[in-house]
Amino acid sequence: MSPKFSRPLVIVAAFALSLAIGLALTLWLVGGSRTLSTASAIGGPFQLVDQDGKAVTDKSLPGKPTLIFFGFTHCPDVCPTALFEISEILRVMGKDASRVNAFFVSVDPDRDTPAIMKDYIASFDPNLKALTGSPEAVAKIVSAYRVYVKKVPLKDGDYTMDHTALIYLMDRNGQFVAPFNIKRSPEAAATDLKRYL
Ligand code: NI
Repeated sequence: MSPKFSRPLVIVAAFALSLAIGLALTLWLVGGSRTLSTASAIGGPFQLVDQDGKAVTDKSLPGKPTLIFFGFTHCPDVCPTALFEISEILRVMGKDASRVNAFFVSVDPDRDTPAIMKDYIASFDPNLKALTGSPEAVAKIVSAYRVYVKKVPLKDGDYTMDHTALIYLMDRNGQFVAPFNIKRSPEAAATDLKRYL
């Protein structure tokens, strides 16, 4: 095939592959949520601190629906984009935004101290809380939420983190509902989220 046609084909193939991976991951997550109160359910005990050093644990979830997003402050694009989109949803919710927990959980505790998290999260909606903790505490929540995380060395000696970019929606009882779709208008997402208040 001529190079003229092969490039779009590669793009289409890459797009199809990313869709397939996303679908498989969603089915895997949703499948896990059906086996309630088994070891494979999503969620579980954790103990972290927010950007002000205040403890946030699994006991902080019940009473409000919760959005949880895992990432890291050095993330070049995926995390800031997702946090911007979540901020837009919270902004559209107005007063109701305070009736939702919105947590950004670091998967890079070595670099993401509470002070770094505080500085970073200041760019986003004030209802967003940035959580971090010891490497052990982060490993525990990463495992409980079945988050994929991989440290990837960069050529300059630095490193980046590959990670799951799903938004987890937990209900008022702290139980996993489904991945929350933020790839739609903030108004549509806010309307959807309000159903769980
Ligand atoms: Ni990221």
